[in-house]
Amino acid sequence: MTTHAPSESSTPSLDIVVLAGGISHERDVSLRSGRRIADALASAGHTVRVVDPDASLFSRLAEHRPDVIWPALHGTTGEDGALLSLLETTGIPFIGAHGDDASLAWLKPVAKALIRRAGFATPDSITLGRETFRDLGAADVLERVSAALPFPVVVKPSQGGSAQGVSIVREASELPRAMVEAYSYSDTAFVERHVTGTEVAVAVVDDGQGAHALPAVEIEPLSGVYSFDDRYNAGETLFYTPARLSDEVAKRVADTAVAIHELLHLRQLSRIDLIVDAEGTPWFLEANILPGMTETSLVPQAIEAAGLTLPGLYSALAVEASR
Ligand SMILES: Nc1ncnc2c1ncn2[C@@H]1O[C@H](COP(=O)(O)OP(=O)(O)O)[C@@H](O)[C@H]1O
Ligand SMILES: [Mg+2]
Repeated sequence: MTTHAPSESSTPSLDIVVLAGGISHERDVSLRSGRRIADALASAGHTVRVVDPDASLFSRLAEHRPDVIWPALHGTTGEDGALLSLLETTGIPFIGAHGDDASLAWLKPVAKALIRRAGFATPDSITLGRETFRDLGAADVLERVSAALPFPVVVKPSQGGSAQGVSIVREASELPRAMVEAYSYSDTAFVERHVTGTEVAVAVVDDGQGAHALPAVEIEPLSGVYSFDDRYNAGETLFYTPARLSDEVAKRVADTAVAIHELLHLRQLSRIDLIVDAEGTPWFLEANILPGMTETSLVPQAIEAAGLTLPGLYSALAVEASR
């Protein structure tokens, strides 16, 4: 048998499928992320196809088995673990968390409970299903919530991304509308204590040398909340990479993000979102298993700030996943 194995020192050229698109609220973001990932991998010498998953996905994968799959599907199906669990049945390696682990990280109140149990700070919150309001009466439920959590609070869908359905609520009278807004994205929503401080997103990567944090990206939305529009339109938000934190706090933030990444078993890649308060305590907001990789996204900014290139790092992650 003749083999054309590359020498040990050179990067193997892989056949890679990037999954992008899908039918979630974040379809367009996914397509943009997928295209950017594919371009970077192609320029590193890999053969890349971008596939928009539909009813032919598994037959296409069976017909033309890639060496590795890069799922870049934000939102449900991509991030809730369903597609990832199905990918596992094909035996084709893929980048990032396995299905069951993804399903834990995807449910923000579940991830928060695990992280709190491990001794990290995450803002207090109350999680309410849509039915809670019907079963117990909206007025009583909202009164309990208002009594337990000091305003302002943040109302969010239990799952999802790109700040869709997220509102800051400054007084009790605004709560009902914020709950309705959150329920338009998910059947379960939660009300969380608002944390004032420096918002940071920390990319954690593992290309085989162990999980490590890239420089934290500080986010300063001019509107106060890092909203959907702020995320995908230039000029609405100021970014500082590395974040304007003391060395000591920056190290605490990096160590916390890596510990959370490992606790949640997020493998090659994740982005951990935190707010650092005035005492330097990082408060966990959420873990993103398939973080945005568009032109304006945070992970590419962190990669560049670390002095790495997108082709170099993405290629190393793909090679690691394919092993
Ligand atoms: N507890 C909180 N305190 C202050 N701001 C928050 C809080 N939770 C969320 N935010 C703001 O809302 C944005 C979206 O919240 P997040 O939980 O990260 O959801 P998403 O998955 O949509 O990114 C954050 O980037 C931050 O600006
Ligand atoms: Mg977030």
